[in-house]
Amino acid sequence: MSTDAANKTGKPVTLDAFDTERIKADFPILQEQINGHRLVYLDNAATTQKPRVVINALIEHYRKNNANVHRGLHTLAERSTEGFERTRAHIARFINVPDTGEVILTKGATEAINLVTYGWGEHNIKPGDEIVLTEMEHHANFVPWVTLAQKKGAVIRRIPITVCGHLDLSDIDKIITPKTKLLALCHASNVLGTINQVAELAKRAHEFGAVVVGDGAQAAPHMTVDIQQLGVDFYAFSAHKMLGPTGVGVLWGRRELLENMTPFNYGGEMIREVGYERITFNDLPWKFEAGTPNIADVVAFDEALTYLEDIGMDRIRAHEMALTKYALERLSEISGIEIQGPQDVESRGAAISFTDPTIHPHDISTFLDSRGIAIRAGHHCAQPLMRTLGKVATARASLYIYNTESDIDALYDALLEMRKYFGV
Ligand SMILES: Cc1ncc(COP(=O)(O)O)c(C=O)c1O
Repeated sequence: MSTDAANKTGKPVTLDAFDTERIKADFPILQEQINGHRLVYLDNAATTQKPRVVINALIEHYRKNNANVHRGLHTLAERSTEGFERTRAHIARFINVPDTGEVILTKGATEAINLVTYGWGEHNIKPGDEIVLTEMEHHANFVPWVTLAQKKGAVIRRIPITVCGHLDLSDIDKIITPKTKLLALCHASNVLGTINQVAELAKRAHEFGAVVVGDGAQAAPHMTVDIQQLGVDFYAFSAHKMLGPTGVGVLWGRRELLENMTPFNYGGEMIREVGYERITFNDLPWKFEAGTPNIADVVAFDEALTYLEDIGMDRIRAHEMALTKYALERLSEISGIEIQGPQDVESRGAAISFTDPTIHPHDISTFLDSRGIAIRAGHHCAQPLMRTLGKVATARASLYIYNTESDIDALYDALLEMRKYFGV
């Protein structure tokens, strides 16, 4: 593994201590054979695999601590509540937030963004207001806002992308204006890999009093996320893309905004007093967590965060930068393969979308699967971006902590084999 990557502070990071083989051994599924080949899992932007500690935490919760949270006075209820709230406190530390009341547990990034759309957008977006999105949004951070704009008579403005896959900020003064009520953008793109200048754009939007929503689904798993440095008002991400279980997501929001928002779901847990004439709501964060939450998965997410922290987020970023650089180099050796997104690894993450001029991405994915390699093919829930790129679909290899240069070599070899098979 090379040692030329740099962390956030620009200091070189030595990757000698990044023992990917040891990390791999912590993931039982990575020992699986798929179609007679060792599994090469390169679909991490869709979801990541789970280390043994996370799987064990799930089993342990159901075997020893299972009870509903917040309501019981018995020992198991206390244990369960303690585990659930421990994860919340851990998430707050992970993203550098001092107030745990601002950390809302949802079932995923999608639900987190919808919570803002319903809880904030419904009451604050008025006819003629402008909502600024980027051309690289996942449907999760696109469909809720476009639907809201249609309902409210608001206008969608978009920040275009350059041919290199960066945000094109040349006309930003005409896009973010006093009419802007909301800026919603991804911290990192799930298709292009681009890491966006969220702090800079948030500052600009705040000059006009707009609210800023950061979609961190592809950033929080891969780099240090410091909410205070980002300067956004809301930030959403999913546990399952960062070694945690499915069905758990996070919405961080500024207390003053959350306090003034209406709940998204109504029912048990989110109330203080209920009567026929009057209902009062619970304190933050429980005001937004109606009903029985996904307790065991939230409890197990704590172990995922610990696992990532034990490696170190800056080292994870450095590992992925080195590996992405290697992957970009290898893929560009194959004539005809077109890679989307920035070429410089400093401004991109480890999701690498590519196309072959003659072979459909679905065929690429099917062929690779026959060699034990899992990638994603399709529009990646980013149809507006696909249109901008002039593609119906792309193939996407996305890397994570357990991937190695040998995984990239396996991808390279299989792509060559595929081209031979298709007579290219
Ligand atoms: C950039 C981005 N935002 C949002 C989401 C939605 O995440 P989830 O499906 O976990 O809610 C994804 C999922 O791929 C994503 O890549």
